Amino acid sequence: MPDLRVTYAGLNLKNPVLAAAAGVTATVDRMRRAEDAGVAAVCVKSLFENPIPRRGDPSPHMRVISGRRGPLAWGALYSYEQASHLDEEQYADLIGRAKAALSIPVIANIDCSTPEAWGRYARLVEQAGADAIEVKSCPHGEHLMSGDELASAVALVKGLVSVPVIAKLPGQLTSPYRAALDIEAAGADALVMFNRFSGLDIDVETEAPVMHGGFAGHGGPWSIYYRLRWIAQVTPELRIPVCGTGGVGCGEDVAKYVLAGATCVQLATAAILEGYGAFGRIIREFGEWMERKGHANVASARGLAAGRLLAIGDVSRRQTVRAAIDADACTACGLCGRVCIYGGVDVPEPPEKETYSVNELCHGCGLCAEVCPARAIALTELSTWTPAGGRGGQRR
Ligand SMILES: Cc1cc2nc3c(=O)[nH]c(=O)nc-3n(C[C@H](O)[C@H](O)[C@H](O)COP(=O)(O)O)c2cc1C
Repeated sequence: MPDLRVTYAGLNLKNPVLAAAAGVTATVDRMRRAEDAGVAAVCVKSLFENPIPRRGDPSPHMRVISGRRGPLAWGALYSYEQASHLDEEQYADLIGRAKAALSIPVIANIDCSTPEAWGRYARLVEQAGADAIEVKSCPHGEHLMSGDELASAVALVKGLVSVPVIAKLPGQLTSPYRAALDIEAAGADALVMFNRFSGLDIDVETEAPVMHGGFAGHGGPWSIYYRLRWIAQVTPELRIPVCGTGGVGCGEDVAKYVLAGATCVQLATAAILEGYGAFGRIIREFGEWMERKGHANVASARGLAAGRLLAIGDVSRRQTVRAAIDADACTACGLCGRVCIYGGVDVPEPPEKETYSVNELCHGCGLCAEVCPARAIALTELSTWTPAGGRGGQRR
């Protein structure tokens, strides 16, 4: 049985899956449900200094936007859930009650704009018993903090409390790499990369923003790739751990974050859409992946993919493969010919199966093999490729 334990910002966690700050962690009852589902720690829904986001959620405020744009299916949870409606004293009380009710670490999450409030809120949640403090800036507000501003907030809070201080970075940064290094230098004990993106969906019939009429967060499986990219680049340079967040829907997503260099992950959307059981399922699936890959502990997988990243100049540009069509499997749908911008597929007119072939203009990009609904196209080594040969080639 693989050992799932990790150490994150000085906290000993029983596995690398945390409940992210969101409505799913806004009350003690909900935090307990997350704990019962197996999470290693909870990040409590944010306390904002700005009173406007505390006024409550507009209704409705959640929408699943999904569908197909041309050939690609996609989906996102589009939501405008407001900050914790609690004031600072009530929030501190919530932290205290969560600490009393839960046996896992409770991480407070604060969002301020004045130095005075950063200090006051940080001290309050520490005194209430928070095991660590996430410092973050709301992606939907009028002012999203820059990396420099977040680094200053971290330095300020770090100077006032003794619990670990974790910076939750917004996705919208000019240089996430630079920001991560600067925030570490400011004294952060860990980084969360990244909060959700702010976006806007529009109803083309009413010609107005959907739902409440303003911007909203959006995330989903598609959002993982941006996070992996920056975590893989920055973690080799950092001494502090990184928690990945965004798009985790299964154990293999946790594996990807760990392989990119993250120590742990946080998730909200999967639990919102599936229920708290999603946490347990994802932890179990991650353990199964570790077992299948022979990783005795999380550290043995951490950063493996980041270590295999090639620098831009080291990527080989030599063409090594060309497509070949398995004439027996081909259904003559013509999609390969339509997606090939290189003119590498000869599609006769009328497009009959018998005469489909790949020609020497094929760049070996691989797209025709990817989209072929009959899985009739394979990439073959250029050295063995012939217009009519091997697996594929033209129909006999
Ligand atoms: C409905 C909802 C509310 C959220 N509220 C907060 C919040 O109050 N504070 C915060 O730091 N992040 C908030 N987040 C962001 C999550 O903590 C998490 O970082 C993000 O959703 C990415 O993970 P996911 O793709 O698993 O949802 C919220 C996310 C959702 C979906």
